[in-house]
Amino acid sequence: MIITEYRAKNFRNISEICLYPDSRTNILVGENGQGKTNIIESIWLFTGCNSFRTYKYGEMIKVGEKEAGTKLFFESQGLANDAAIRMDGTKRTYTLNGIPRENSRRFLGVFRAVVFSPHSLSVIQDAPSERRKFLDIAVSMVKPAYASHLIRYSKILANRNALLRQISQGMAGEETLTAWDEELSRAGSKVTLYRQNYIKRLAPVAKEIYGEISGGREQMAIEHMHCGKGAEADEYELVENMFMALQKNRDSDIRRLFTSVGPHKEDISIKLDGMPSRNYASQGQQRSCALSLKLAEAYLIREDSGEYPVVLLDDVMSELDSQRQEFLLDYLRDWQVFITCCDARHFSKLKSFKTFCVENGKVSEV
Ligand SMILES: Nc1ncnc2c1ncn2[C@@H]1O[C@H](COP(=O)(O)OP(=O)(O)O)[C@@H](O)[C@H]1O
Ligand SMILES: [Mg+2]
Repeated sequence: MIITEYRAKNFRNISEICLYPDSRTNILVGENGQGKTNIIESIWLFTGCNSFRTYKYGEMIKVGEKEAGTKLFFESQGLANDAAIRMDGTKRTYTLNGIPRENSRRFLGVFRAVVFSPHSLSVIQDAPSERRKFLDIAVSMVKPAYASHLIRYSKILANRNALLRQISQGMAGEETLTAWDEELSRAGSKVTLYRQNYIKRLAPVAKEIYGEISGGREQMAIEHMHCGKGAEADEYELVENMFMALQKNRDSDIRRLFTSVGPHKEDISIKLDGMPSRNYASQGQQRSCALSLKLAEAYLIREDSGEYPVVLLDDVMSELDSQRQEFLLDYLRDWQVFITCCDARHFSKLKSFKTFCVENGKVSEV
């Protein structure tokens, strides 16, 4: 996956830019608030995933303008593609090779990228929802059909939660829940199965990368936690487990007006030498864990699609010590990478790269 040309107009602080990236390393250098992350964000949107900054697309249109547009020319599997996204106050339109696509999900699996930023640490440090977000994006990138299962599950979950409210108000009988529990268990087990299969592949890769980064000092172990357990199960068992758990928690769900089990409550356990990395690992170890997860995610995209995803590294170099910086640059030497930074001196050792200076929403090649 190689971006050959990138254009943006009225995207955040960018009035109009066009750049022709290097097929390997691209360094976007500039002071704070100049538009580096804006460029990374707009490239990321071509993956078909939501922005890593906001759900409000209106925020991305340059203040004072009515619409924004971005365009990407990229090579994938030896073929040239062009994709365009336009957004105005009310809607977004997606076009791939001149053909309009209904929504962003139609871009999933077409242009593949991985983004690593200081926010990526939240996968280790923050609540389970951050780990689910990581998983949902990572799985969608290699299995685009997953996104539809997730949406279907969310709709059924919303219906079940609405029914819980009706039951608590005496407007519906408790027995009406059973049909929804069955449906939710079937839809939920699909989501869980995709996640389980993904983590099974991710875990050994992340473990190996962590070993390389840390010089084998500790062992990283990842496990999928569903219905409170980490044990692997087939789809039939998953449906069964979830249905039983819903029955068990029915009374408290009715009291709390909330469904307490299912994929929306799942988590990934990330441990170093058997201890939860969230509570026990040092900052440096947590960074290595987050980096290992991201590189493992990129590795699986490559394994499935046969080509390297584009790697977007936003403001991370300055947070890594020199050993980890070197490891990362060496690991990614054959990938197309976009690196934002305030100081391009980290990269003097690289052989092939282009440097773009970002200043007040304008870009010039150095
Ligand atoms: N919709 C918008 N219209 C105009 N400017 C915006 C908009 N959204 C964000 N910005 C500006 O973009 C700049 C931030 O750009 P960013 O890419 O995050 O900077 P950095 O170079 O530090 O990564 C800020 O100056 C902010 O005010
Ligand atoms: Mg930034």
